[in-house]
Amino acid sequence: MSRKKLTVLDLQEMKERGDRVVWVTAYDFITAQLAEQAGIDMLLVGDSLGMCIYGYDGTIPVTMDQCIYHCEAVRRAARNTFVIGDMPFGSYQISTEAAIANAVRFHKEAHVDAVKLEGGARVADVVRGIANSGMLVMGHIGLTPQSSNALGGFKAQGRTAETAMAVIEDARIVYEAGAFSILIEAVPPEVTQIIRDDLPIPVYSIGAGIHADGQLMIVSDLVGHFQAFTPKFVKRYGNVAGEITKSFESYIKDVKKGAFPGDEHTYRMIDGELPRLIHELKK
Ligand code: KIV
Repeated sequence: MSRKKLTVLDLQEMKERGDRVVWVTAYDFITAQLAEQAGIDMLLVGDSLGMCIYGYDGTIPVTMDQCIYHCEAVRRAARNTFVIGDMPFGSYQISTEAAIANAVRFHKEAHVDAVKLEGGARVADVVRGIANSGMLVMGHIGLTPQSSNALGGFKAQGRTAETAMAVIEDARIVYEAGAFSILIEAVPPEVTQIIRDDLPIPVYSIGAGIHADGQLMIVSDLVGHFQAFTPKFVKRYGNVAGEITKSFESYIKDVKKGAFPGDEHTYRMIDGELPRLIHELKK
């Protein structure tokens, strides 16, 4: 069933009427296709692909080329879904000009609808530069995995009055710089609520509680595919890793005992061709 792709105006109206946006990350064609068919509103091709696809310990090694490559696959599968490309570490830290050029690459090569980048006050100029170039840019504040070293690990943010104030200020600065929406990660729900009520733009949560204009989950966590660790804010809705393991185990058993391939998986020679072959071999 084809549906109309959401626009930035739709996202804004959804906030205004209290209709929560449901979004997930996606990195490959099939998952993106299933997400669109299921009715997911929005897809993020997150740099979490570093961990979920490439097996890195974090997101720092992820490159622009990897992000573009996965965005292209997702875009091909989900033509009617709002797709956001995640700007990887190093693609927006060096200069505003370089950040704009990389945001342009996401649009020209992978046809994304928006880009996302991490940080508050420190990325205000970059957000402004991308927004002023006519592209949609989403801010990402709170726990920002690309700077987990500086944060002392993958830790929840804004749990004291002072640090909550810093998150709230980051949100306002990113909004004033021109972000069309903000994603808050791993922050107490009260802080998210203050930001959502303060700002006119959509404010989304991943691990930032119920009081948001929508929820994001990492697809590999949601479906039970990624096993290395499970953040507190993850709810598993499936057991894909269990299903894959069961399939492999059954396959191993079948091959070992000669139960696969069966007749139904086997090509037969055309009638009359086998005797002819035997005859040829005897010559
Ligand atoms: O890369 C990603 O998937 C993200 C989420 C952690 C928000 O940025």
